[in-house]
Amino acid sequence: MGSPLDVSPELAERMINAAAGAAADYYRDLPGRPVIAQTSAAAVRAQLPRELPRTPVRFDRLIRLFTDAIAPNSRHNGHPRFFGYIASPGSAAAATGELLSAVMNANVTSWRSSPSATELEHIVTGWFKQFLGLPESAQGVLVSGGSIANFAALAAARSQAMPQVAAEGIPPDTRLRIYVSQEGHFSIDKAAALLGIGNASVVHVPVDSDFRIRLDILARQIDADVASGCTPMAIVGNAGSTATGAIDPLHSLADIAAHRRIWFHVDGAYGGFAALSPNLRDEFNGIGRADSVTLDAHKWLFSSMGAACVLYRDPAAAQAAFAHDADYTRPIGFAHDESFAFWDYSPELSRPARALPIFFHFSHAGADAIAAAIDANVRCARHFAATASSIATIEMLAPVALSVFCFRYRPRGFAGDLDVLNQRIMAELQRSGFAYLSNARINGKFALRGCVLSYRTTERDMDILMREVMRIGADLCKT
Ligand SMILES: Cc1ncc(COP(=O)(O)O)c(C=O)c1O
Repeated sequence: MGSPLDVSPELAERMINAAAGAAADYYRDLPGRPVIAQTSAAAVRAQLPRELPRTPVRFDRLIRLFTDAIAPNSRHNGHPRFFGYIASPGSAAAATGELLSAVMNANVTSWRSSPSATELEHIVTGWFKQFLGLPESAQGVLVSGGSIANFAALAAARSQAMPQVAAEGIPPDTRLRIYVSQEGHFSIDKAAALLGIGNASVVHVPVDSDFRIRLDILARQIDADVASGCTPMAIVGNAGSTATGAIDPLHSLADIAAHRRIWFHVDGAYGGFAALSPNLRDEFNGIGRADSVTLDAHKWLFSSMGAACVLYRDPAAAQAAFAHDADYTRPIGFAHDESFAFWDYSPELSRPARALPIFFHFSHAGADAIAAAIDANVRCARHFAATASSIATIEMLAPVALSVFCFRYRPRGFAGDLDVLNQRIMAELQRSGFAYLSNARINGKFALRGCVLSYRTTERDMDILMREVMRIGADLCKT
């Protein structure tokens, strides 16, 4: 008997068809499922086989395990009323791209390793450059997420500020500074720590009433830092901040950065793809002037998890940070486009064909439908805010810039702690399975925070959410 690893093409087809059936059931059941199952770690563990399988397990049992235990015990990011964090629903086209990518199991280190996947990656990152207004000469690379994209961009910025850093490290007397608004994502601080700059060197610039960076304070702070001997390394602009969705004035940030010769990075992990929408494009003016941009395909492109992009205006700046030569990787006998290696542009060497799911997803839907879905998400968030304005017990805590909405329940005459009440509302709502909100702190207040990021969400879902929050809030106030 042959190895169970080496299945025949016919058996592979049956296995994939069985998985396709489970996928169709998952999609069918999704809107009717609770957003998240009420369970416990012990209960989930009890449903999963824990013993190391010495002998083969029948494949139909594995599919049944998915259907009966794995899928139901998941949080369903594709549910129309999942509003937590910033999570894409994924798409069937992206999922099939993931499957076929895994079938080839290409290792897209370089052109030599996977010519078609490399060219596909150039194509999709080329589309991103195009809609953001970056030059054709810019270089894009797909990475696992926005945190790694921000890290890679800041590594390139560090090399630009100190060309010898890759070889010699940061000289002891150098005090680098990274500027980002108080709304910046923590991955910026994390990158600073990992790059040896120290997260104490990240200057969190105050924001205005729309949660956008204060340009006057930024400019004064940079000048004061330079006067005291610091080296400004990068200015990071938010193109959709995590807590409120605020978009910094990117043109003005580009001006400040250009005037002082500082690297300008735009963190568009959440909001960047909204620039695909002709109705929203103007909000992002200036993004094409960035030295680097982060985009998360697993956020507002609605593609599947594990795919982000970092774009570098000047590919040489990224190469200064990442390029390495080793005998075991050097492309021998290749030149020009065929000698291209992704390891010159990010910390990764082995990497999957991330472009294939994105290519399938983008091509299957088309840019217009993606833009229309983004517009619809923004309309849903605005609809919620408009409804809130006529409800005395709902207080919006931040303007709706994109599809994030932050609010709290504030009953008239309530003498208790509003933070505690709203924390209990969030926990109760999550438990109910009807809808899912996460939280943020806005001007010191605990906020219920939602982010509309699903092409399945409608204004009716926003009304259901409002009704549930009010019902839970009123019930909690009675007890
Ligand atoms: C603005 C922003 N930047 C970066 C990140 C990090 O992205 P990832 O979760 O893909 O690492 C996030 C995640 O929510 C984000 O909202």
